[in-house]
Amino acid sequence: MDILKKILNQTGILRIVLNRPDKLNALNEELLEELKQTFETAHQDSQVKSLLLTGEGKAFCAGADISQIKNINSAGSYQFSLKGQAIFRKLETLGKPSLAAINGYAFGGGCELALSTTLRIASKNSKFSQPEIKLGIIPAYGGTQRLARNIGKGRALELCLRGHTIDAAKALEWGLVTELTEPEQLIPLAEKILEDINQLAPIAASSIIEAINTGFDLSLDDALQLEAAHFAMVCATKDKEEGINAFLEKRKANFTGE
Ligand code: COA
Repeated sequence: MDILKKILNQTGILRIVLNRPDKLNALNEELLEELKQTFETAHQDSQVKSLLLTGEGKAFCAGADISQIKNINSAGSYQFSLKGQAIFRKLETLGKPSLAAINGYAFGGGCELALSTTLRIASKNSKFSQPEIKLGIIPAYGGTQRLARNIGKGRALELCLRGHTIDAAKALEWGLVTELTEPEQLIPLAEKILEDINQLAPIAASSIIEAINTGFDLSLDDALQLEAAHFAMVCATKDKEEGINAFLEKRKANFTGE
């Protein structure tokens, strides 16, 4: 059984399914390595336009594999954190849009994995938590940082300090996800969102992700410079020419990613 299922559809969406349902898709070393290789391949492969991450069974992902944390020492745990962070950062900076379709529990590293995607939607029965404090540890795959950046410092502190579970409605209210669906509509909606984006200009999409993500951590002046540089870059593309011409000629644009 493949621990990570990968299916590339005709519209360029690579569906990545965490497939360890008996352990609620907990991230063991093997699964993390598979994710790393998949992100590297997706980055290189021009047929892959966007990524859809989801989980098999009742969980999106219940976090790092707790049995593998049990025996790591201090030096090992530092590397453990850095390694997971690097893999999630690879996803975040892939240059292609990614979407987490959260189908159930997104706990610990599962919530952190979702936070590393570009977009997040969830089924109405999904649940979110950063329960690490209950294990005497802290989120270490970027959760303390990306949560604060996405939902605000106060809510990040509340989630991480209490280690409690919030439901999908609260996750929507807090902006952790942008849409909720019935479970059976989750993948169709995820595909629809990505198909819509895939039809738009990919270089512009990549610039938007980079300008917003990187710009968020810069001073406003530096971030505005970054935005202007990206604007200049996309204005030199064929897609810009096509987009503007299509609007003026009252037709649908046909973007080629050049
Ligand atoms: N690491 C390793 N195994 C995990 C896991 C994790 N993060 N999360 C769940 N599992 C395993 C359970 O040990 C269990 O295995 P078993 O059947 O061999 O005993 C199996 O997955 C099913 O989990 P279970 O706890 O029985 O499901 P549940 O529906 O009762 O509860 C959760 C679901 C998510 C509330 C619960 O599994 C949980 O709290 N998991 C840990 C979440 C966590 O702390 N993540 C951060 C890790 S740093």
